Amino acid sequence: MKGKKTVRTGIVGSGFSATFHFEALRRVYQTDVEVVGVHSADTDQGKQYAQTRGIRFFDTLEAMLDEVDVIHVCVPPKWHEPITIAGLARDKFVVCEKPLTGYFGDDSDDFHWERADKKVALQSALASVDRILEAERNSQGSLLYAENWVYAPSIQKEREILEKTGGQILWIHGEEAHSGSHSVDYAYAARCGGGVLIGKGCHPLTAALYLKRVEGRVRNGRPIHPKTVSARTHTVTRLPEFRDEGHIRKDYYDIEDFSIMHVEFEDGTIADLFASDIVLGGIHNWLEICANNHRAVCNINPNTAMQTYNPVEKNFDDIYVVEKIGTKQGWACTSPDEDWFTGYPQEIEAFYRTVADQEPPESDSLLAADSISTIYSAYVSAEGRGTAVDVVTYPKSDIQ
Ligand SMILES: NC(=O)c1ccc[n+]([C@@H]2O[C@H](COP(=O)([O-])OP(=O)(O)OC[C@H]3O[C@@H](n4cnc5c(N)ncnc54)[C@H](O)[C@@H]3O)[C@@H](O)[C@H]2O)c1
Repeated sequence: MKGKKTVRTGIVGSGFSATFHFEALRRVYQTDVEVVGVHSADTDQGKQYAQTRGIRFFDTLEAMLDEVDVIHVCVPPKWHEPITIAGLARDKFVVCEKPLTGYFGDDSDDFHWERADKKVALQSALASVDRILEAERNSQGSLLYAENWVYAPSIQKEREILEKTGGQILWIHGEEAHSGSHSVDYAYAARCGGGVLIGKGCHPLTAALYLKRVEGRVRNGRPIHPKTVSARTHTVTRLPEFRDEGHIRKDYYDIEDFSIMHVEFEDGTIADLFASDIVLGGIHNWLEICANNHRAVCNINPNTAMQTYNPVEKNFDDIYVVEKIGTKQGWACTSPDEDWFTGYPQEIEAFYRTVADQEPPESDSLLAADSISTIYSAYVSAEGRGTAVDVVTYPKSDIQ
């Protein structure tokens, strides 16, 4: 057996995603990963993060780049592009959280997403994608797009089914939803590039784009790209008629909290992806694949791997049940290993096979680019109340 390679890693950001990235890094087994340190805009939080984990805190990104082979970009989307490009410029591998990039307003104090011109948003987001892809082309490193849905075990099982049966996917439908994000930044399109359509919709969308890629790859070595998208967005929790019972977050500044995207692929097959912040009962993340030779329901969360019944709420006070469940009393789809079902450790394990052994990543920069292009084309469609909009795909197609 050949020896393991040692890879030195740095984390950018010290919040929610930086925490699950670190946990996944601890579980990498085929590569020796040394997490050297963390850099974060929040110095106090970053120092605390470093101290808890026995790693160094770096005051600047450049100082950390001097000492690592890989960086993990775990910061709000507005800062994905500059940090990713800084890493690629230093020939590092860059693991970038979703969404890859976007449009973050015009820097005016009164920027408001509902009033923004979505065609400007699309052009601006695509220009950002182009800058990132250009930086990757000029780098010895590469971009590893941290879309965990691609690596969720149920989605990878569907990849195997497609590869071994040559199935044709006719229709995909799916959803990512819950009752509201924990993040303060999430309420502002100027920091996150939009609302729920990008923030949550990117997950089932990218999984759908990925599986149609796999299907094409099996058939003739060529991905099947999205061709058009039609979308609607709504702001349900800001409706004057919304009756707040205290279960659903409602303090968003300017973002939509409901979206539906209808994607038509270049072979005429279709996908319908919901995303919302108005669903109670915990995370609702699923994808159903209707193919010509099989059907698969991928229940990422909840799933019935384990179910518990708890008659007294306080009995489970110090027991983690499942993300964003409102109560631990009664029946619950308690997850014995939520990160595993979500694909975090599999994603990071696979990325380090790319770093150490040059294995091509399943979730790469071109998949991320198609996802951003489809999302902002969907915003243009929603502005036109659902008219179909052509999608530019990567490597760049000739639709402009
Ligand atoms: N894949 C998933 O399931 C998943 C889940 C949650 C969040 N995310 C993604 O992770 C990213 C971060 O979200 P989060 O929930 O961790 O946010 P967070 O607010 O919990 O943490 C963000 C961290 O980034 C730091 N930061 C902000 N700007 C920075 C900069 N310019 N340089 C260095 N540090 C900076 C902040 O100080 C903070 O420590 C987002 O892109 C989000 O979409 C992914």
